[in-house]
Amino acid sequence: MTADRDDTLTERARLALARPDLLRERAYVDGAWLDGEAVIEVTNPATGRVLGRIPDLGREAALAAVAAADRAQADWARRTAKERATVLRRWFELINVHIDDLARLMTAEQGKPLAEARGEVAYAAAFLEWFAEEGRRAYGDLIPGHQGDKRLLVMKQAVGVVAAITPWNFPAAMITRKVGPALAAGCTVVLKPSELTPFSALALAALGEEAGVPPGVFSVVTGRPGPIGEVMTDDPRVAKFTFTGSTGVGKLLAARCMGTVKRVSLELGGNAPFIVLDDADLDAAVEGAIASKFRNTGQTCVCANRFLVHDRVYDAFAERLAARAATLRIGDGLEGPTDQGPLINAAALAKARGHVDDALGLGARLLTGGEVLPAPGAFFSPAVLRDVPARALLNREETFGPVAGLIRVADEAEAVRVANDTRAGLAAYVYTRDASRCWRMAEGLRYGMVGLNTGLVSTEVAPFGGVKESGLGREGSRYGLDEYLDTKLINWSV
Ligand code: SIN
Repeated sequence: MTADRDDTLTERARLALARPDLLRERAYVDGAWLDGEAVIEVTNPATGRVLGRIPDLGREAALAAVAAADRAQADWARRTAKERATVLRRWFELINVHIDDLARLMTAEQGKPLAEARGEVAYAAAFLEWFAEEGRRAYGDLIPGHQGDKRLLVMKQAVGVVAAITPWNFPAAMITRKVGPALAAGCTVVLKPSELTPFSALALAALGEEAGVPPGVFSVVTGRPGPIGEVMTDDPRVAKFTFTGSTGVGKLLAARCMGTVKRVSLELGGNAPFIVLDDADLDAAVEGAIASKFRNTGQTCVCANRFLVHDRVYDAFAERLAARAATLRIGDGLEGPTDQGPLINAAALAKARGHVDDALGLGARLLTGGEVLPAPGAFFSPAVLRDVPARALLNREETFGPVAGLIRVADEAEAVRVANDTRAGLAAYVYTRDASRCWRMAEGLRYGMVGLNTGLVSTEVAPFGGVKESGLGREGSRYGLDEYLDTKLINWSV
């Protein structure tokens, strides 16, 4: 037996799943579980050990999945919304029954603390529940005719076959946030999950199959992004393409989709400002900052990326945030309670450290953390820096790591100006006790989501999405259902 095999056995034993069959090393296409000739290894970022292998499928499998989705779509759409809701509801319930296994799998492949993984699985399931209900309310409209003999009816219909590419930072919730509304609307879905975190997706597919999702209605094609992505963006049978990931990749994929004029939803990168004004409740602001910056070890698109702090509370906030960040427990989520897992890989570690070094080189001061911890895990101690100049990488790029950089602002107007000085526009956060300021800030910030006195904005019942280069469309809520529905006019002469 090779050392690699021993490592994988060790990882499997640590997983201790109640249902070991939920760890699937096969793709799921048209209701069948597929092997591949080539494989991709999936590594636990906390240990550096191989957790398992997935088929490295390509163009052929992607085409087969699209063909199956195309065949299945009309029947699925013909079912009543209530029938589709029953399947989605069963899927939701099964996810909740197996929440512990799904959370352990997620922590092992992605690294997030077990409590956060559990939270994400519940969040993921909630999208299925919510859209099962909302799918029954995909109402149309009856418009008074513009001529005496005319009646105008507006109906909503499923857009058809959906192709989805999802990221590694939320291996379950970013899937159900797309698949829930798509299936509720009557669409079928071909998914390519991140090859870094495919096991959550495959476990979801296994539970979907048990819940009664028919063959072809939901397929999971595993492999490298290139060949699968090309089919998804180019094939005319795909009516809608939805992507969560980096802004650069999203732009390229969206441009390709225009060859067949697909509907496109994009949830891309952010550069979130976290504004603390001089009348803020500083204890609440520090806790909000911890939640916003260090959730998922700083690897969310809505993570605070720039802290804009009013001159009058700057020193106190800096000191308190650093003290609180230093209390975060770093470690392998499968080995005991933790607050910070590893980063996803060595490249992410290098980026976080690079942003710290760049800021220090420009005169910033490190208050805590910023260390790459010894291998094998990709661990980085949560960092807080003060006096970070505007030109630092920390302020210009999405760090996607546990590094908080503080900028001093003189007043509310400067905070809004600096906050808006970016091409990104996903989430922004403001702490103030003044209701008028809350309104002014909420209206002045050019972002898709504004958290007022909270560091968390996401929920299945509210629209999630950005403006400017942070994306197109909304996920979650009734707005998220619209993304999977076409609006058809019936102009009727009576
Ligand atoms: C994301 O990082 O894209 C999703 C974060 C969330 O749903 O809160």
